[in-house]
Amino acid sequence: MKLYFITGNKHKIREASLALSEYGIVLTPPPRRVAKIEVQSDSLSIIALTAARHAYLELQAPLVAEDAGLFIDALKGFPGPYSNYAYRTIGNQGILKLMEGEDKRTAYFLSAVACICPPYEEVFTGRVDGIIVDEPRGFRGFGFDPIFRPLGSSKTFAEMSVEEKNKYSHRARAFRRLGAWLRAMKGGEQLGGLGDGKLKEPYKTTR
Ligand code: IMP
Repeated sequence: MKLYFITGNKHKIREASLALSEYGIVLTPPPRRVAKIEVQSDSLSIIALTAARHAYLELQAPLVAEDAGLFIDALKGFPGPYSNYAYRTIGNQGILKLMEGEDKRTAYFLSAVACICPPYEEVFTGRVDGIIVDEPRGFRGFGFDPIFRPLGSSKTFAEMSVEEKNKYSHRARAFRRLGAWLRAMKGGEQLGGLGDGKLKEPYKTTR
């Protein structure tokens, strides 16, 4: 089964494609550029679902959109749903500055993957717990990867290959849940070709 992934982030595409390949599902870029609409919300699921719904209106084909964020306990969950803005403004150095002298360094990444495969609409989430390190380490990956070390590893995400990051990452976990769900729907046979291409109410299931 083929699914469009609404993102311009090549790292996300590699990570998600690798996770879904375990389920025989191929992610492809949309046939034409579709903007990922980013609404402001405290809920990653709502942000991802809104982006997916907007993209579906344009493409009328099975697709996924993802929203992710880094939640730092000592900062009461900041930057969370505002991670994109925080990364573009204060960046990794800004986050490390906010964490200066802080002993409590626990944090987690959360990913919400919204899938629209008429007549179904689902959101799958994945989480990885870890630590904000004292100094950025590694040059791979993107975003906050150099300052986040998942529990169970001595490396930051930026020191890992995609395969290694996927053993831990929030994104791989969310996309694997999607893969398992699609497989349970008989490899997607019942999806995509179904219906008249229009979403049906109610379409609000969230996992
Ligand atoms: P987005 O809105 O889903 O693109 O995610 C918001 C921001 O969170 C991104 O711009 C990144 O800075 C950060 N982020 C999300 N996922 C990851 C990840 O897997 N590694 C590092 N940073 C991430």
